[in-house]
Amino acid sequence: MKQFNNSITVSAPGKLMLLGEHAVVYGRPCIVTAVNQRMRVTVELIDQPVLELNAPDVQVTDYKKPMSNLGQGNIPTGAKFVEIAVKNFLNCHPERLAKDINLYSSASPQNDKFGVKITTSSEFSSQFGFGSSSAATVCIIYALSELTRQNLDNKQSLRSDDLKAIFDLSYKTVLDIQGKGSGFDVAAAVYGGTLYFVTDGKLIKPFKIDQLPIIIGYSGIKFDTVRLIDEVAKKAEKYPFIINNIYDQIAKLVKKAKKAILTTDFITLGELMNFNEGYLSTLGVEGKKLADMIYAARDAGAYGAKLSGAGIGDCMIAIAAEDKKQTVANAITQAGGQVIDVKVNAKGVRIEL
Ligand code: MEV
Repeated sequence: MKQFNNSITVSAPGKLMLLGEHAVVYGRPCIVTAVNQRMRVTVELIDQPVLELNAPDVQVTDYKKPMSNLGQGNIPTGAKFVEIAVKNFLNCHPERLAKDINLYSSASPQNDKFGVKITTSSEFSSQFGFGSSSAATVCIIYALSELTRQNLDNKQSLRSDDLKAIFDLSYKTVLDIQGKGSGFDVAAAVYGGTLYFVTDGKLIKPFKIDQLPIIIGYSGIKFDTVRLIDEVAKKAEKYPFIINNIYDQIAKLVKKAKKAILTTDFITLGELMNFNEGYLSTLGVEGKKLADMIYAARDAGAYGAKLSGAGIGDCMIAIAAEDKKQTVANAITQAGGQVIDVKVNAKGVRIEL
């Protein structure tokens, strides 16, 4: 069977929530930064009607699914985002894959003459909460878009350089699977840098910063994000007057934090992070292990520390003066955390040579 030499490798960064988690699910802003550990995906168009997937980082090897059955039946957890991303791209642009490999005969997404072979690998563990699923989703949509754009009359079609369209389709994919989420992680994977982001991508504003004096500690705990969103939502149903007020306060401190970051006022940023942590603790998502690491970092002289992401597990972050960073890192380790060495403000999705 002829194999089309039609493949591309793209990469997208992981993300780190700096401030505003949970409130951002409900119309408020957050600040997210892209980290310099990346998800890498190779996508190849093939002339057999199957999706083939190898994703060793999430224990998926030689997964195969007929293109006509995408999204149906039992899908292993590690294959879900990839499979639904391909399905959504195809539903949006059924003509594009077929055209590109010269087998175009009908505009049906059930076209049975072509398929896609995908290999993913990640520079970071999917356990960290750096957003490996959304980064993989963005890579696939971007790769398919790039691979198929040459045959387009681009009037009706998504242009591969239209990052908002890449964001929209990737975010739809994440919502199809998770049902919930603000899309901040998808935005970080698409645009990179550091973003002021409002729910659903209503506002995605990059702002220029240098590196932040940040220390990241991984808790070793995995907890389900959607479950935490649901638990907070239940509290908001019972105590709307408290929880909505907390979201509003978080929104205010996020705006102030943006200014603090832009003026490199890390003392104020640290204080705002501490306020943010207080609110997250009130929402019930702090967790003992993260709290131990956060308080250890503050005791060791950090300007501020808070959890990053949905809470209970994944990572915490601290901001500290350069000459205190090592002491803070040691304190986090002593509290049982694993310090992860990453740089913030990394580039968004891109083609790899
Ligand atoms: C999870 O990393 C952050 C949340 O705000 C969810 C989201 O924004 O999608 C809890």
